[in-house]
Amino acid sequence: MTTSMIRRAVIPAAGLGSRLLPLTKATPKEMLPVGDKPVIEHTVRELVASGITDITIVVSGGKSLIQDHFRPNPALVEQLRADGKSAYADAVEEVAELARQGHITYLDQHGPYGNGTPVLNAARHLGDEPMLVLWPDDVFVAEVPRAQQLIRAYEATRCPVLAVMPMAPQDSQRYGVPVVKEDLDDGLLRITGLVEKPKPADAPSAFAAIGGYVVTPGIIDELREQTRRWYEHRTGEVYLTDAVNAYAATRAVYGQVIQGRWYDTGNPADYLVAQFASALAHPEYGPLLRQLALDLDEDPTSGPG
Ligand code: G1P
Repeated sequence: MTTSMIRRAVIPAAGLGSRLLPLTKATPKEMLPVGDKPVIEHTVRELVASGITDITIVVSGGKSLIQDHFRPNPALVEQLRADGKSAYADAVEEVAELARQGHITYLDQHGPYGNGTPVLNAARHLGDEPMLVLWPDDVFVAEVPRAQQLIRAYEATRCPVLAVMPMAPQDSQRYGVPVVKEDLDDGLLRITGLVEKPKPADAPSAFAAIGGYVVTPGIIDELREQTRRWYEHRTGEVYLTDAVNAYAATRAVYGQVIQGRWYDTGNPADYLVAQFASALAHPEYGPLLRQLALDLDEDPTSGPG
C-alpha cells in the first residue's frame, strides 16, 4: 500500500458565521446540520476517507460544541445500551471513532483577522509539511472525495493546489478567481495568480476557488511575511488568497477542477439548498418531501417559513 504524501489537514473554524445570524448566535455555523450530521462532520469524514490522520481544527471562544460533538461520551453510551438503544449508542461511538482516526486536535486562533491566520497558527503546530486546508462550510458529494482529488494533484505536481470549479460570471464577487495560464490534462490548471472577489468584468477566468487548498511551506512563508507586515502596519486582514497570489507570481501553483457536486452552507440561501438536497436524496424521506413540495405548491403560505 502506498502512503499518501499528505497526512495533515487544517479546518479553520474560528469565524463568527455572521452571514447566518441569528442562527449562529449560540450555535457555531460548523455545527448546523446538513442531513443527519453537522456540517463539520461531513468535512472530517471527507478527510478521514482521504487518508488524513492528523486534523487540526482552529477554534475561538464559543466553539466548544464542536469539541463536545467529537469527544467520546462513555456515560451516554452506557445509558443508551442499558436502555436497549444500541443503534443510538453505536452512532454516538462512531463519531468518536471518526475523531480518533483523524487524530483531531484543537487550537485557539491567535493573531490578526483574516483566513490566513488559522492556517499560520496550524502550521506552527503541525510543522513545515504540505497540508490540506478545507473551509468547514462546504459539503461535497463526489465519487472520489474532494480532499483525495487535491492530494492526487499535489502528488502529481508537488506544488500548491487550489480546489476550483466552474462558476457563473455573476458569481465572481463571491469567490477567489484564479488566473489560468494553461489547461492541462485531468482537470489540472496551471495558475499564475488569484484575485479575491473581482467584479465580473475584471474576473481573470470562469473558475472559482472553492475553499480547499494544498498549502506548502512556501505558502506558509508568504503568510508569515504578510503577518509580519500586518504587525508593522496593522492594516487589512491576513488572507490566504494574498499569500497564494504572491507565491504564484514567481512559482508554480495548480488548480484542480473538482469532480462532484458542491454545496456551500455559509449563507442562508445556499444552506437551505444543501439541507433540501440532502433531504431529497434520503431514500425514505426523499419521496415524502417531493409530495410535500407538490402540496405546498398549492398553498405556499402553509410552510413554517
Ligand atoms: C473565502 C476565500 C475565497 C474563496 C471562498 C470559497 O472567501 O477568501 O477566495 O473563493 O472562501 O468559499 P469567504 O467565503 O470566506 O468570503
